[in-house]
Amino acid sequence: MTQFASSHGSPSPDDAVDTRPVILEMENITKKIGGRTILHDVSLAVRQGELKVLIGPSGAGKSTFLQCVNLLIAPDAGNIILKGEKVEPHHKPSLYALRQQVGMIFQDFNLFDHLTAQENVAIALRKVRGFSKREASLRAMAELERVGLSRRAGLYPAELSGGQKQRVAIARALAMDPQVILLDEPTSALDPELVGEVLAVIRELASNGMTMIMATHQMEFARALATEIIFMEQGRIIERGSPDALLAPGAGTRTADFCSKLLAEECGC
Ligand SMILES: Nc1ncnc2c1ncn2[C@@H]1O[C@H](COP(=O)(O)OP(=O)(O)OP(=O)(O)O)[C@@H](O)[C@H]1O
Ligand SMILES: [Mg+2]
Repeated sequence: MTQFASSHGSPSPDDAVDTRPVILEMENITKKIGGRTILHDVSLAVRQGELKVLIGPSGAGKSTFLQCVNLLIAPDAGNIILKGEKVEPHHKPSLYALRQQVGMIFQDFNLFDHLTAQENVAIALRKVRGFSKREASLRAMAELERVGLSRRAGLYPAELSGGQKQRVAIARALAMDPQVILLDEPTSALDPELVGEVLAVIRELASNGMTMIMATHQMEFARALATEIIFMEQGRIIERGSPDALLAPGAGTRTADFCSKLLAEECGC
C-alpha cells in the first residue's frame, strides 16, 4: 500500500500531530462472499471531525466495507472499535449502540413511501430513541429545517425530488445524534442538477465537525473536503493520503489516474 502522509512524503517535525480522539476504528476487516474474498484485511481509523473519502472502481468493495462498519454485513474477521470499545456483533446492546451512533446514508434513500418527510424522520426517533409523538415531531421538524426542507415536511417521498429525498434521509440520520455518518455514494442516483444541493448539506455537516466516511465519485468535493482519500481496489486499500498529496500535479498516483479517467468519462473526451 502506498501512503502519502504529507505532501513531503514522510512526516517532518513541523507536521502538526493530530490530537483529535479516534472515534471509530476498523481493524483488519475481512469478508468472504460465496467463497470469494471481497475485503482483505481492511483497516481504517477515523478521528473526530474527519471526512474520509473512499474511492475506487466498481466492485472494489467500498459498499461492502461501509456495510461491515455498522455491521449490516457481518465481517468474517476483524474488529470494529467505537470510542475505544470493541463492538460485539452478537451482543444486541452493543450492536444497537453501534447502529445508533453510526448512521448510514444509502444511494437510494431508503425512505418509507407511505410516510411524509416529517414522519420518516420522526419514526426513527420514536422507535429507536423512545421519543413521544410530539417530541419526535418537533425534533423531526428541526432536523428538516437543518437540511433546508421544513417547507416540504408534509410531503410524501413520491412528491419529492431525489435531492430532497436524500436530504430527508440525512435529516433522519442526524436525528439519532450520531457520532459518525457513513455515506455510500449519496449523490450517484441523482440527476446532475440535484447533486449540488446534497453535497452542500454534506459540506455543511463537515464544516460543523461531523465525522464521516463517504464513498463517492465526486472528486472535486473529495479534493476540497476530504481529510484523507482512501483508494480501494479488489477489496484492498492500495493507496491513502491527503487530497493534496494524492492529487498533486505529477503525483503519479493511482488516485490521480482514476480521477482523470472519471473526468474524461464525464466530459466524453
Ligand atoms: N451479496 C453479494 N453476493 C455476491 N457478491 C457480492 C455481494 N455483494 C457484493 N458482492 C461482490 O463484492 C464485490 C464488491 O462489491 P461492492 O458493492 O462492495 O463494490 P463497490 O466498490 O461498492 O462498487 P460500486 O462502485 O459499483 O458501488 C463485487 O465484486 C461484488 O460483485
Ligand atoms: Mg458501492
